[in-house]
Amino acid sequence: MKRPIDRYVDGLLRRRRPKSFAPDEEDLAVARTAIELAATGPDAQHPREAFVEDLRRRLAAQAAAHRPVPPRPSSRWAMERRWFLTATAVTASAAAGAAGYALTQSPASTPAESELTPTTGSWQTVVTATELSEGTTLPFDLGTVTGFLRRVSGRVQAVSGICTHQGCRLRLTPPQDQLACPCHGATFTLAGEPLTHPHNSHPLPALPRLPVRVQGNDIQIYAPART
Ligand code: FES
Repeated sequence: MKRPIDRYVDGLLRRRRPKSFAPDEEDLAVARTAIELAATGPDAQHPREAFVEDLRRRLAAQAAAHRPVPPRPSSRWAMERRWFLTATAVTASAAAGAAGYALTQSPASTPAESELTPTTGSWQTVVTATELSEGTTLPFDLGTVTGFLRRVSGRVQAVSGICTHQGCRLRLTPPQDQLACPCHGATFTLAGEPLTHPHNSHPLPALPRLPVRVQGNDIQIYAPART
């Protein structure tokens, strides 16, 4: 049986109005991160601040209405979910003002797919390993997550393709040495570090890294299932 936070996150990712429930501190951290993830959908071609702010208000109202209870001992399931949300969402968002999150587990220590609940996500093949040669950067779009893959010193890395200003989709700019936002001009390095930010905005957070692995000849991203 799903826990309330699971239903809440599923609702966010499917663009449904999430049901209210009494969150504990761990739930709140997961919900905040899910809000950011919901704002990185493939249709994020334009600023979606209103959407994010609306969700944030609901979460704040929930937190105010329900006094948090002491965190329960973390189950393996909870740790897996937190790892996924942490790894796929943001370290912090200037537009959101969300708290930062640390990547607590490396992709290499990710539990096998069969150990995860299907609604959480799965490893999905993006390109073959031979398509991503050393020094190459490739955009990808899984429908629920967009980003950029690159291979550096033999290692595959992936970052979100969504601007941390207000959620527009980034473009790889020739000669492919940076990621640029078409909305307000922010730019990022291929590793996701912010280079420039819109006039009058605070410095932007780095692009979150995405969990990526090489499985045989496939390069896979861990992402929510397509709805
Ligand atoms: Fe404003 Fe990207 S959304 S610079």
